[in-house]
Order: sequence, then structure tokens, then C-alpha cells
Amino acid sequence: MKKNYILLISSFILLVGFVSPKKNINPLTTDILNIDGKSLTIEKGCTLCHHPEKKIVGPAFKDISNKYDGNASKILNFLEGKGNPIVHPDEFQYMKPVLMQLKHASKEEREAIAKYIAGLK
Ligand code: HEC
Repeated sequence: MKKNYILLISSFILLVGFVSPKKNINPLTTDILNIDGKSLTIEKGCTLCHHPEKKIVGPAFKDISNKYDGNASKILNFLEGKGNPIVHPDEFQYMKPVLMQLKHASKEEREAIAKYIAGLK
């Protein structure tokens, strides 16, 4: 049952990721935009599986940050598909589709999310 639920959520997120218009943010305007990582985790569906402090389907963001020693650039690497999972590699199959969806986000959005998670240590 849990597996079906997770698959359903993953498909939903993938769908939203593919149909929502790609935002092209001019790097020069990002400071003014003040992108909020916390809101993005809600907007991008992360909070369906992650809570800042409690384990839901995925580990708590706080536990992820602890594992990464609060290092935002290493978390960013993972979110960009450049790093291996270190928190629960055995459950990576559920997180993997999210990385595909995140390719459609802007670099600035991924950075803001990574900084937000890192700050929860
Ligand atoms: C379908 C459920 C689900 C969704 C949605 C989801 N995650 Fe995850 N996430 C997981 C699971 C399960 C793990 C544990 C497996 C792992 O460690 O890779 C995880 C692990 C992670 C990790 C730790 C990776 C590591 O090194 O092990 C990060 C960072 C993360 N998620 C960020 C996010 C962000 C950011 C979003 C939203 C863009 C998101 N997740 C959406 C289920 C999900």
C-alpha cells in the first residue's frame, strides 16, 4: 500500500513538473526576487514526502542536513544528480523521479532549496 501511495505521488509530481511552464530567471534579477527555499519545497511537492523535522515518506529535512553537515553545495550536487544518495540509499528509487522534475526548475530555485534544507541543521 505504502509503495502504491508513493508511486502515485511520484507520478503526480512528475506530471506537474512537466506541464508547469519553465521559468527562466535572469541571473541578474535573482537578488531582487529573493527566492524563498521553504516556499519552493511546498510549491515543488517536496513536502508531500518531507517534513522539516519529522520523517514522513522521506527523511526529515533536518536529518538530511545533519547527514550533509549543513553543507548546501553538497545538497545542491545531489539535487542536480551529481552526487550519490547518502541518507537512505536503499529508498532512493522514491526520490529519483524528483531529480528529473528538478531539472525543469531554475538553478536559482535549486540553490534556494539546498540552502533552506542546509539551514535546518
Ligand atoms: C515521493 C516522495 C518524495 C518526494 C516528493 C521528495 N522526496 Fe526527497 N526523498 C524521498 C525519499 C524516500 C528519500 C530517501 C532516499 C534517499 O536518501 O535518496 C529522499 C531523500 C532526499 C534527500 C537526501 C538524499 C541523500 O543524499 O540520500 C534530499 C536532499 C531530498 N530528498 C530532497 C527533496 C526535495 C528538495 C524534494 C522536492 C523537490 C523532494 N526531496 C521530494 C522521497 C521524496
